Amino acid sequence: MWTEKKLDEMLTTPSPALVEDMKKIKGDVVILGAGGKMGPTLALLAKRAAESAGVSKRIIAVSRFSDPAAVRLLAEGGVETISCDLMAPGALAALPDAENVIFMAGRKFGTGADACRTWALNAWLPSITAERYRGAAVVAFSSGNIYPLVDLSTGGSRECDPVGPIGEYPMSVLARERVFEYAASEYGTRVLLFRLSYAIDLRYGVLFDIASKVLHGQPVSLSATCFNCVWQGYANEAAIRSLTLADAPAQYLNVTGPEILSVRATALAFGEIFGREVTFTGEEAPSAYISNSQKACALLGYPSVTAGQLIRWQAEYLLSGGRTLDKPTHFEERKGSY
Ligand SMILES: NC(=O)c1ccc[n+]([C@@H]2O[C@H](COP(=O)([O-])OP(=O)(O)OC[C@H]3O[C@@H](n4cnc5c(N)ncnc54)[C@H](OP(=O)(O)O)[C@@H]3O)[C@@H](O)[C@H]2O)c1
Repeated sequence: MWTEKKLDEMLTTPSPALVEDMKKIKGDVVILGAGGKMGPTLALLAKRAAESAGVSKRIIAVSRFSDPAAVRLLAEGGVETISCDLMAPGALAALPDAENVIFMAGRKFGTGADACRTWALNAWLPSITAERYRGAAVVAFSSGNIYPLVDLSTGGSRECDPVGPIGEYPMSVLARERVFEYAASEYGTRVLLFRLSYAIDLRYGVLFDIASKVLHGQPVSLSATCFNCVWQGYANEAAIRSLTLADAPAQYLNVTGPEILSVRATALAFGEIFGREVTFTGEEAPSAYISNSQKACALLGYPSVTAGQLIRWQAEYLLSGGRTLDKPTHFEERKGSY
């Protein structure tokens, strides 16, 4: 039986590798933009890893915390929280100093209607953050969408491949990367750019989007064709462990599962589990947003949960009626309009 408590417990239980790395991470950790879909479980995971490692470390989660439930969850887990709008004048200056920063704040949806807000959050906030925490190790969340759509035969974009963002959201995320790269080059800030593709936490995510369409008899769009995704527990661990890999010049890491999943095959797998006929809309294409995660797998190990397991868990979670976030990924979008 899936419960939200069980899911949170699984997402926040540190692996032995994370506990070992926590012993190497010196100083406190500030997590900026910690109130979203990933931040609360990431912060709790970091706290539990520090406790298991026997190291004394402040884990400080900073966000506006539009969702007050996140503050309660974090406080119960011993994570310090600071509620503030990071864009407000003086907000960053008032934050505690820290030797480690995980930068997660970002804006994607609503870009079409209000692009300047997206650029401010994704490019300007990183630049003032880079100035404020120039002496820290910084893991800055980025996205696999900074790469162009690539031919399926490539096996996915690698870190050394040319970027080619399509649309203003991925352009602004690339701007975030460039700003932190500049800090690494100018100030010697240790930086790792964390190019994530589709975390799966069962309450939201690309598998949730496909599974709920199948369960409710709605057609599944084939336009994305293929995708990668990864267990959010692994993605969060990878982000924390990446503090040990941050360096100047900046480092780059694709973080996603090693499997390239077909949208059609994934929808049919859900159809089989649910005993539902699956209908499709749109057409498959010869290209997709896919990333090659071999570098992360070599440095941090393979994800502990396979894509097949995630598909089963996602189906079970939906059937159990567990709470969902109602935050669609819009993974079908190929033109970068969000
Ligand atoms: N989840 C994924 O699969 C995925 C994939 C690729 C890339 N990413 C990127 O990874 C990062 C973390 O992912 P996520 O899914 O947790 O993103 P998210 O749900 O968008 O969380 C980011 C959080 O940042 C906070 N924030 C935004 N503006 C702020 C401000 N002015 N001051 C303080 N806090 C602010 C918001 O929380 P409050 O309302 O509490 O302020 C927001 O929920 C994001 O940058 C996202 O774009 C995520």
